Amino acid sequence: MPADAETTHDVVVLGGGSGGYACALRAAQLGLRVALVEKDLLGGTCLHRGCIPTKALLHAAEVADSARESDRFGVRATLEGIDLPAVTAYRERVVSRLHQGLQGLVSRADVEYVEGEGRLEDARTVAVGGRRLVGRHVVLATGSVARTLPGLDLGGRVVTSDGALGLDEVPGRVVVLGGGVIGVEFASVFRSFGADVTVVEALPRLVAAEEPASSAALQRAFRKRGIAVRTDARFASATQTDDEVTVRLEDGDELVADLLLVAVGRGPVTEGLGFEEAGVATERGFVVTDERCRTSVDGIRAVGDIVPGLQLAHRGFAQGIFVAEDIAGLDPRPVVDSTIPRVTYSEPEVASVGLTEEQARDAHGDAVRTVEYPLGGNGRSQILGTQGFVKLVALDDGPVLGVHMVGSRMGEQVGEAQLVVGWEAHAADVTPLVHAHPTQNEALGEAHLALAGKPLHAHN
Ligand code: NAI
Repeated sequence: MPADAETTHDVVVLGGGSGGYACALRAAQLGLRVALVEKDLLGGTCLHRGCIPTKALLHAAEVADSARESDRFGVRATLEGIDLPAVTAYRERVVSRLHQGLQGLVSRADVEYVEGEGRLEDARTVAVGGRRLVGRHVVLATGSVARTLPGLDLGGRVVTSDGALGLDEVPGRVVVLGGGVIGVEFASVFRSFGADVTVVEALPRLVAAEEPASSAALQRAFRKRGIAVRTDARFASATQTDDEVTVRLEDGDELVADLLLVAVGRGPVTEGLGFEEAGVATERGFVVTDERCRTSVDGIRAVGDIVPGLQLAHRGFAQGIFVAEDIAGLDPRPVVDSTIPRVTYSEPEVASVGLTEEQARDAHGDAVRTVEYPLGGNGRSQILGTQGFVKLVALDDGPVLGVHMVGSRMGEQVGEAQLVVGWEAHAADVTPLVHAHPTQNEALGEAHLALAGKPLHAHN
C-alpha cells in the first residue's frame, strides 16, 4: 500500500452476495463506514441463481404434483402441462421483489454501494474502476460458481444449474450428473414437470454427506417417483448433436437425453482477483481462515462459499454478521459449521443438523443411542400422503447430537431440531414441551418421547 493512501472506510466488502451484504448491513448498523463492491447483482448466487429461484421452481413442481395426484384426495383436477416461460415469470417476480427489497435495505443503510469488478490491490485496498477503496479491514466474499469436469464442455445441451434456469421448455429426457444437493433438487423438479430423469452419482448413495438412512429413504422415494438413480456410476464422456446428448459411463453404459445437467459441485471464485498477490493463503482455490474468518493476511477476512466448509447461504449470512461484529469489537461467538442446519428441498425433503450416527460413534463410541420415528405415525404427514422419518442421534443419558429428517415439507422442522442440537438439549428437556397437533412438528416431539423411553404413537 502506498504510504500516502488514506483510509476511506472502516470496512470494504468485496462481493454483494449473502455473506458480503450481511456483513455490510451489520457493519453499517454498528456505525462503521462501509463500502460494498459488487460487479453483478446485489444478492449474489443465492438470490439470483441459487436458493430463491430454485425453491420457486420446486414450489411450482409441488403444485404440478398436487394437480397430477389430485385424484388421491378426491379432487378432480388435470395437469394440462407446464408452461415453463410462465413458471420463469413467476420465479422472476419472486426474485425481483426480494432484489428490490434488498436494494432498498442497502440504500437506506449507511453503506456505500460501489458497482464494478473489484480487485484486491493490497491488504487494505480494493480497486474498482478508477477508484481505490482503502479500508481498515477488507472482507472477501466473492462466492462460488458451478464446476464442470475435465473434458466436459458446457454449452448447448450440457448445462449447469445456471443454464437450467434459462430453459424455455421442459426437456423430455434429462441426465443429472451428480447426486448431491443441486442434482437431487433439479432431478425432483424435472420429474415433477414430466421429464424422464436419470441421476448419475459416483458415490454409493445420493446426498452422500447426509445420514445413510436419509439417502436410502430419498432413493426409495425417487424410485417410486420414476426417477432412475445410478449410484457407483462414474462419468466417462459426453457428446452432443443438435438433437440429443449421449452420456457414457465408465462401465460402458450409454444414456441418451435431451439435456445433461452437470451438478458436480461449486468452486470458489478467488482467481485473478489479486488475493494471492496480496499474500492471502488459499488451498485448492479456497481461502484459508481461522474460526474468526481471519485470513493469513492481517486485516483481511473471508466469508461464505470461498471459505472451506458448508456452501450454504445461511452460513455466509452468519459469517458476515460475525465479522462485522468482531470488527466492531463486540466479541461475538464464531460460527460453527456443526450446528448449521442443512435442507435439501427435493420431494421428499431431506433436513438435518449436527452429527450423523457414524460421526457420533467415531467421537463417542458405544455411548451413542439412536431413535427413528417414522412419519407413518404422524397425522399431518398421513394427511399430506408423505413417508419418511425423524432420526435422533444422542449420547446415552446425554444431549441430542444430531437430527435427521426425511419427508415432504420436513425442512420446515429444522428450526426446532437446530435449537435442540445447538442448545445441547436432552430428551427430557424436550418432552415437557407440548407440540401442536396435528403438525409435522409433532414427529420431532414424538421422537424425543421415544428417546426418553416413553413413545406414544410408535409401534416398536
Ligand atoms: P455436491 O458436492 O453437493 O454434490 C456433487 C455430487 O457430484 C457429489 O455427490 C459427487 O460425488 C458427484 N460427482 C462428482 N464427480 C462426479 C462424476 N465424475 N461422476 C458422477 N458423479 C460425480 O455439489 P452440488 O450438488 O453441485 O452443490 C454445490 C453446493 O451448493 C453444495 O455445497 C450444496 O450444499 C450447495 N447447495 C445447497 C442447497 C441447499 O442447501 N438446499 C441447494 C443447492 C446447492
